[in-house]
Amino acid sequence: MATQPVEVNLPDQLALDRLPRHIAIIMDGNGRWAKRRRLPRIAGHRAGIKAVRQVVETCARLGVPYLTLYAFSIENWKRPHTEIKLLMGLLREYLKKEIEELNRQNIRLLVIGRIQDLPEAVLKDLQNALDQTRKNTGLHLVLALNYGARAELVDAVREIVARARRNGTIEIDEPLLSSYLYTSGLPDPDLLIRTSGELRLSNFLLWQAAYAELWVTETLWPDFTQKDLYQSIADFQRRERRYGGLGLS
Ligand code: IPE
Ligand code: IPE
Ligand code: MG
Repeated sequence: MATQPVEVNLPDQLALDRLPRHIAIIMDGNGRWAKRRRLPRIAGHRAGIKAVRQVVETCARLGVPYLTLYAFSIENWKRPHTEIKLLMGLLREYLKKEIEELNRQNIRLLVIGRIQDLPEAVLKDLQNALDQTRKNTGLHLVLALNYGARAELVDAVREIVARARRNGTIEIDEPLLSSYLYTSGLPDPDLLIRTSGELRLSNFLLWQAAYAELWVTETLWPDFTQKDLYQSIADFQRRERRYGGLGLS
């Protein structure tokens, strides 16, 4: 299938040679989107999938190497059973329907979170999607599922302690701790986007986002488009990252 060259819609100020290597998104506001339309919350989640498709496709076309999407947090189990059930159903639907499209776009699916605690049927579909996209070499699409940054750190520390018990000793430094996180092998996010205006991280990538540039928009996730993504990248490219130093100016 012929795809439109991405340059057609590119705002002039976007520098393709200075794209963020890793974009992470807290996709928030599905419930509010539905509420405004007097629809059930699940309608908002369903509409959110369209936004996911557009953002994934845009990142793949631009050549962004890593995109992480916060899809279900470990704290989201606090929601009503019916919403969780519908969300898991939507996730399964996405995983099954999307494999072909992901392969066509050369996208590799990865996952971070306490995956083993997901319902068995979800786990099966997830494993299948991971296996079927394993050989792709384009965009790495990382889904954060049953993810919590504190749980991730607890899991890492538990494993490090277990290894120390086996080996008698272990040298702990930042690279070692990083290598025990679910994100082991992935670069830290450069640009962290949150939709729907909330100014918090909600337990997302607390370690990895240490020097991420934050970008918050009032736009609700189902309304988030390619244009918003371009805007976030253009803003990112205008920022000066200092990492505690004095910067260039
Ligand atoms: C984000 O939208 C999706 C998930 C957390 C699964 P919300 O469901 O949190 O929507 P709001 O924040 O209630 O509007
Ligand atoms: C963060 O959104 C989690 C996801 C987007 C999956 P929440 O809606 O769960 O966050 P809070 O409750 O507003 O902090
Ligand atoms: Mg929310």
